[in-house]
Amino acid sequence: MRRAFAVLAASIVVAAGGLPGIGAAQEADHRIIVPLPDEDRARLQEDMREFLRQNTGLLNAVIDGDMDRVREMAQGARPPLPRIRALASGASLPSPDGKNPAVPPEAGGRQRPLTLFERMQRNLPQPFKDMLLGMRETVAEIERDAREIGDSKHTLRQLSTIQGLCVSCHDLYKVVSKPPGAPNLAEQD
Ligand code: HEC
Repeated sequence: MRRAFAVLAASIVVAAGGLPGIGAAQEADHRIIVPLPDEDRARLQEDMREFLRQNTGLLNAVIDGDMDRVREMAQGARPPLPRIRALASGASLPSPDGKNPAVPPEAGGRQRPLTLFERMQRNLPQPFKDMLLGMRETVAEIERDAREIGDSKHTLRQLSTIQGLCVSCHDLYKVVSKPPGAPNLAEQD
């Protein structure tokens, strides 16, 4: 048993070293580094775990052929679409009642501390924010189409589009902890 394992392990090492393209884990990491303060990074990771739960929940609802549940889950998806739209467009965060637009941080010559939303807006690269928006908009389309079309195969294709965005972004970006006091992306140069 132990010998069989050793032989297997050795053949994996040989295969990984000997066949270019197979040992992907050993290739250089070319992902773009995105530094985020620890608090913001923790929040992003929390959102990510929520994305995984949501996508799995939607997939299970489709498997059960329950398009009402698909619609309800997509409707309740977090974060809300207006928040992600504002994040990607650079607009200030809409307040829940639609009134009181946030005072810009640099207004009146006095700099107030940035909110978490504003830091995310400044620190995340534009294509990163665009992919988050693409994902969230597809969830909104899932809700609409579950209501108007009600075709589970169509929903599956939409879920697969979302999965493609999960994969692309994870292949492209790597988040690291930003030292306190380091400038935000939008404040460099
Ligand atoms: C726009 C980019 C982007 C998209 C889209 C994206 N992710 Fe992520 N995800 C990241 C980054 C960057 C990290 C690493 C965060 C870190 O280490 O601080 C991450 C981390 C995660 C983690 C680990 C969280 C943790 O607790 O450490 C999970 C799980 C995850 N993503 C799931 C998903 C799923 C599922 C999707 C699609 C439904 C998705 N992500 C879409 C960028 C993205």
